[in-house]
Amino acid sequence: MSRRRQIYEGKAKILYEGPEPGTIIQYFKDDATAFNAEKKGTINGKGVINNRISEHIFTLLGHIGIPSHFIRRLNMREQLVKQVEIVPIEVIVRNVAAGSLSKRLGIEEGTQLPHTLLEYCYKDDALGDPLVAEEHIACFGWASQEEMQDISAMAIRINDFMAGMFAGIGIKLVDFKLEFGRVFEGDFSRIILADEISPDGCRLWDIETNEKLDKDRFRRDLGGEAEAYQEVARRLGLFPEGVSEVLDLNSERKKRGK
Ligand code: TMP
Ligand code: ASP
Repeated sequence: MSRRRQIYEGKAKILYEGPEPGTIIQYFKDDATAFNAEKKGTINGKGVINNRISEHIFTLLGHIGIPSHFIRRLNMREQLVKQVEIVPIEVIVRNVAAGSLSKRLGIEEGTQLPHTLLEYCYKDDALGDPLVAEEHIACFGWASQEEMQDISAMAIRINDFMAGMFAGIGIKLVDFKLEFGRVFEGDFSRIILADEISPDGCRLWDIETNEKLDKDRFRRDLGGEAEAYQEVARRLGLFPEGVSEVLDLNSERKKRGK
């Protein structure tokens, strides 16, 4: 079997050359990092769960007309996606104050925001992904004004959809991060949603108890991170065969008597 060419290894994913030109395979790792990779660890089964959750959300977003890089899930840890030129901006969508917003502006975590807030961070690990204004994005040519209009409109629609979807399963969508990319068609390019949407890049709180069901469990040493990710998948109706059965290969083998 021929070895696939690795294109890039990130903190939570590896990208391999896809089977056809213009395609990429995204491999989801169990590795977790926080604070610009100062803190490192693994969350058992995270890659499998994030692959499935991201597939689910990107598919539903496709149904409401949000174009994305997602083509199809290939197996437990991999999905086939369109190759894009990533826009070097992380788009943060916030409904409730938390995390860096609370720290920066002294707003108590959990405070409902009067309206949805969009923030932009420049993707640069060496600089720690600094917060930037739209003026910086235009000034340094990271994205055009037309592209930013498409990006912000899509981010708001994605938030409306996801907030409703999560509310329906007893989860408050506090905030999340999106990434977008360019696909080229002749002389033109258009913006599509890229990367992943999973508990790694969202804050998800139980509506009743405010229990954290996302990567803050890892960032803040709260424990139970694998269980939290599994709970999100379970509530979304994924892994009908049982998350633990899928993830716990040993018990599977034992059951089969091997
Ligand atoms: P923040 O409050 O730390 O700025 O994070 C806002 C949201 O963005 C939160 O849901 C986590 C997500 N996020 C990422 O996905 N990647 C990152 O590098 C950071 C800093 C945040
Ligand atoms: N993924 C980012 C990192 O490693 C930050 C985070 O999600 O908190 O550093």
